[in-house]
Amino acid sequence: MTMGLKRAIQEKLLFLYHFFYKPGQIGSVTPSSKYLAQKMVECVPWHEVNYIAELGAGTGAITKHIRTAAQRNTKVLLFEKDPHMLKTLKVEFPNFSCYKNTTELQAVVYEEGIEQLDCIISGLPFFNFPQTLRDKLIEQITATLKDNGLFIAFQYSQQMKKQLSYHFHLEEIKFVPLNVPPAFVYVCRKKEQKSLFVAGLNKTEQ
Ligand SMILES: C[S@@+](CC[C@H](N)C(=O)[O-])C[C@H]1O[C@@H](n2cnc3c(N)ncnc32)[C@H](O)[C@@H]1O
Repeated sequence: MTMGLKRAIQEKLLFLYHFFYKPGQIGSVTPSSKYLAQKMVECVPWHEVNYIAELGAGTGAITKHIRTAAQRNTKVLLFEKDPHMLKTLKVEFPNFSCYKNTTELQAVVYEEGIEQLDCIISGLPFFNFPQTLRDKLIEQITATLKDNGLFIAFQYSQQMKKQLSYHFHLEEIKFVPLNVPPAFVYVCRKKEQKSLFVAGLNKTEQ
């Protein structure tokens, strides 16, 4: 058995094992296919990206395509809540900065001395999360992404469409049938935020 095949089997087993114990957090029985990973990564305008984050990196199915596509000086932040997967990511991607929880995204970006992210890629299973957590994560994403920056997220349903369209222009939703389960790639561009100070109140106009 080749090393590549052995690793792929190990990744699938690790994923399945953790899905069994934490289905809501993991969201899928198997890592994303190369077709889904390629579809996500090909949407990124790499020549304009200095800072990018991948949320819910798992065992690195999309991360390895990011590594191939990113410019040499692009700073990549990875977030993965599962401690075993996070440990694997640290070993496999020593040039990327690895963190645990996307709820800390804003604090991490600040600590890294990054003003704003140019792009965010997400494999987070929003569908499984309670609304309070979805709101918190979207808040972290919109707070750290620059105006007109791209948020590229895959989902297994179109359930997040309404919430995303409040903060983003939904430029495209691409269907990827060759994935388990078949997935939708949302290509979302952050709307410009114009702060208005009206009668001492800070209102946000979009
Ligand atoms: C559907 S899997 C996608 C994994 C990988 N990106 C892929 O495409 O194979 C979702 C991943 O998000 C992770 N996750 C869930 N909540 C998270 C959070 N708050 N912060 C970081 N990662 C999280 C899960 O542990 C899981 O590995």
